[in-house]
Amino acid sequence: MQAQQIHWRVFSDIHELRQAACNAILASANAAIAAHGKFIIALAGGSTPHDIYQMLRTAQTDWAKWHVVFGDERCLPPDHPERNSFMAGENLLNHVPIPRKQIHPIPAELGAEEAAQAYCKTLANTGEFDLVLLGMGEDAHTASLFPGHAWENADFAAAIPVHDAPKPPSERVSLSASRLSNARQVIFLVTGAGKREAVTRWQSGTELPVAAIRPMAGVEIYLDAAADPATVEAN
Ligand code: 6PG
Repeated sequence: MQAQQIHWRVFSDIHELRQAACNAILASANAAIAAHGKFIIALAGGSTPHDIYQMLRTAQTDWAKWHVVFGDERCLPPDHPERNSFMAGENLLNHVPIPRKQIHPIPAELGAEEAAQAYCKTLANTGEFDLVLLGMGEDAHTASLFPGHAWENADFAAAIPVHDAPKPPSERVSLSASRLSNARQVIFLVTGAGKREAVTRWQSGTELPVAAIRPMAGVEIYLDAAADPATVEAN
């Protein structure tokens, strides 16, 4: 497999990063809609995207052409506040007119195995994502792909069950590294001093889940100064 091409973008503060991320998401949406009549985005979970999702609520875009999938999900009830789909709904999806049939939550309430199989069927006729948003944990995990765990399964299924995940809850579903890599554009959103050590390991070429995401066009990594080892060293 090709080496990961990385485009680092460091922002002096988190507000600048968030605005740049919104601009990039909307540019990706408008280009995709112009090119093929729809925009397929895989949303990131965790807390980093909260504010970016909120900022998108007032965006001028053709929401009717948006199709939303999720990079991963925690095996919790759909209305549980720690569900990634709940967070995306609260901050964005419940506030914009994307047709509900075009929003595809991972049915993780079914349990990891059944939900992964169901999501593979959901994605069966979906080609390349236009945009994948991803976060990164302090151990350099992304989506629910963790160091020391499988990032693919034997038949390279699009969605894989995750058991005993180090980040609670232990039961999850994740898109695989190869499915997340099947995208025109991938943007990682990485902020805060807690992520700096993982960024250093990523930059050193260590084999990590974040480094396993290898779209043809490479990945863009949006860092704030706190997460950027170079900025911290310079200060
Ligand atoms: C999850 C996320 C996970 C997240 C990172 C970063 O379900 O937990 O998909 O991959 O993006 O752990 O989380 P924060 O944005 O909260 O730091």
